[in-house]
Amino acid sequence: MSYSEDTFKKIIAHAKEYGFIFQSSEIYDGLSAVYDYGQNGVELKNNIKKYWWDAMVRLNENIVGIDSAIFMHPTIWKASGHVGAFNDPLIDNKDSKKRYRADVLIEDAREKINQKIQKEVEKAKKRFGDTFDEAQFRDTNPRVLEKQAEIDKITARYKTAMENGDLAELRQIIIDNEVVCPISGSKNWTDVRQFNLMFSTQLGSVSEDADTIYLRPETAQGIFVNYLNVQRTGRMKIPFGIAQIGKAFRNEIVARQFIFRMREFEQMEMQFFIRPGEEQTWFEKWRSARLSWHKALGLGDEFYRLHDHDKLAHYASAATDIEFNFPFGFKELEGIHARSDFDLSQHQQFSGKKIQYFDPELNESYVPYVIETSIGLDRMFLALLSKAYTEEKVTDEEGDTRVVLNIPPALAPVKAAILPLIKKDGLPEKAREIMDNLKFDFNCQYEEKDSIGKRYRRHDAIGTPFCITVDHQTLEDNMVTIRRRDTMQQNRVAITELRSILEAETSMRKLFEKL
Ligand code: GAP
Repeated sequence: MSYSEDTFKKIIAHAKEYGFIFQSSEIYDGLSAVYDYGQNGVELKNNIKKYWWDAMVRLNENIVGIDSAIFMHPTIWKASGHVGAFNDPLIDNKDSKKRYRADVLIEDAREKINQKIQKEVEKAKKRFGDTFDEAQFRDTNPRVLEKQAEIDKITARYKTAMENGDLAELRQIIIDNEVVCPISGSKNWTDVRQFNLMFSTQLGSVSEDADTIYLRPETAQGIFVNYLNVQRTGRMKIPFGIAQIGKAFRNEIVARQFIFRMREFEQMEMQFFIRPGEEQTWFEKWRSARLSWHKALGLGDEFYRLHDHDKLAHYASAATDIEFNFPFGFKELEGIHARSDFDLSQHQQFSGKKIQYFDPELNESYVPYVIETSIGLDRMFLALLSKAYTEEKVTDEEGDTRVVLNIPPALAPVKAAILPLIKKDGLPEKAREIMDNLKFDFNCQYEEKDSIGKRYRRHDAIGTPFCITVDHQTLEDNMVTIRRRDTMQQNRVAITELRSILEAETSMRKLFEKL
């Protein structure tokens, strides 16, 4: 389940070479932590959105979707707490002049110790073979216990410091654990300061009248301020959810790791409104439902782990991350948060409008509680791309390795490539006929340039699950060769069967049935 050392670099280069992701404003030397999606990237992204949207809105009768504006009344961000508390603690290294998030430095230091434990475990696994009992080893091995105690100590100090907003203590944890700057290698740190992550701009043409407004840092608030509109017009009964996909903006201090941490990104969020007192049940339900959504993709269950938050966001009463094993380690992919009645109560107070639900079964009114599921679309994209990127040894006339993206077929940008064997003898016309029929249901590509082997490789590299080749025999028997991406196996099938084969193997139905 591990990646080879330079996989991440290769994935970034591959994403560019095959039209998935480009650096924004590249011809002007780029804009840091902002990216554009290319012709294949946008297809993959749209498919991820559809998988999420349909799993939420179509499969759950009590969840509806909205699309709210990015610009909102500035008071919303005071009510939500983002003006006062949406901060990152930052620290500078005096020698390299580089800026870091103090919390990230501490989490990385902890992860380093964790990796040492992992190494001990791997070594012992090899030594003891089948008889190895990992749990017992972790509980008894003195070196592991010592390292685990170090982690626990950091965690306890870190948690208290974050809860109390104790910036001096955060710095002290960095000093005490001898964290060094990755650039200068020095431990010469400044004090820790708070930095607000929201981008602001002016609304209005005359500067004296202009109001400062913010680019939303999360899509969730667009849902909260529309709670009453949706509940009333949709006649929604609690429990119910509102889902939204859209852009969010954060002035990230440490923007790195490609599309993992961007300044402009997309979120897929769902706020589930419930009765007070039912948080634990619904929190657990959604945590498990979201994990199933991920696992249904078949990337491998061992690529996910759950991580309870040490530091809670200002709105949360409980929070779990679904972490994914990215090429740079396990990191947050999605968050499930119990937000209590914090947001709706705050908006009730700041707007002066009553935001409550009359529960006919209880015969009483209350401010609903909320369980939120929030996933970064770009991070989901990166997770898929990371796991899909595979270099394989093969032997054929095109060489001895192939790069293939094993993207789950339902999410693949192109479902089938339609390839006339040669560019004459009526084969292109026949292939176009097939293309013109299949394109109504599937995203297909017609290609006649280069040898058939080269065309297969190009489609392996963008993850196309099927290549359909039209040859001279096709003109006589209306059969084509169908080649499967993962096994490279080829067989002849009737043209009339193509639609049902593609339907059975590339539709999202199979994924939905697992949920
Ligand atoms: N409404 C809750 C919320 O926004 P969050 O944990 O700050 O919670 C939710 O963000 C998800 O959004 C994260 O799990 C991550 O997938 C994604 N995300 C957050 N910041 C991001 C960034 N700078 N770049 C890309 N994705 C990001």
